Amino acid sequence: MEIIIEKLKPNRLRDFKKLVSEIFNERHRLWIFSALGFTKTYVARNVEHDDFVGFIQFFLSNIDEVKIGAIYYIGVKRKYQGIGVGRSLVRKAEEHFLENNAYIAAASTTSNNIKARLFFKKLGFKEYRWYELYDMFGMQFSNKLIRILRAYEDDVFLIKFFKSLKHTLI
Ligand SMILES: CC(C)(COP(=O)(O)OP(=O)(O)OC[C@H]1O[C@@H](n2cnc3c(N)ncnc32)[C@H](O)[C@@H]1OP(=O)(O)O)[C@@H](O)C(=O)NCCC(=O)NCCS
Repeated sequence: MEIIIEKLKPNRLRDFKKLVSEIFNERHRLWIFSALGFTKTYVARNVEHDDFVGFIQFFLSNIDEVKIGAIYYIGVKRKYQGIGVGRSLVRKAEEHFLENNAYIAAASTTSNNIKARLFFKKLGFKEYRWYELYDMFGMQFSNKLIRILRAYEDDVFLIKFFKSLKHTLI
């Protein structure tokens, strides 16, 4: 089975919506569709069936002089989970973050999403609760990060460090 990661093309929006509907509920779908304008959206496509099996949305943002790579949403169809599709999608985002000199990659989720938490940890992300973020980054930086990620309903933050932030913070 050949699965490739590629940029979502405007003429495949209908297929993208179908994919997202198979993975996420109505509320998340709205967030995902409205993020098409400000995120880079990549899909995993099963070449044989010309079928989308997963996607990732990510973008770069700045907190003062610190460049942040934000992973907004990632999802893989249940049938295709556990075979490395999610890992390849995150790799694509990380390539973009590193090419653009990001200091960290950041994502968020809810504590009950055990699958996502294990997944990100396996990929080298460390997990923080909001009070641990505050301890590590300070309140101002943390609040900005939460705003960037639109993580108002999430309680788990996943961070991967590419460079040390010691000399850039505060
Ligand atoms: C989280 C998600 C994207 C993972 O995608 P995936 O394609 O199944 O992940 P991969 O197969 O690339 O797994 C990468 C690593 O994570 C680990 N992992 C993935 N799912 C796991 C699970 N359910 N339990 C334990 N470890 C898991 C794998 O062991 C793998 O490590 P390995 O290669 O050393 O074995 C997928 O489960 C999903 O779409 N979930 C629903 C949507 C969601 O919750 N998204 C996240 C919030 S936006």
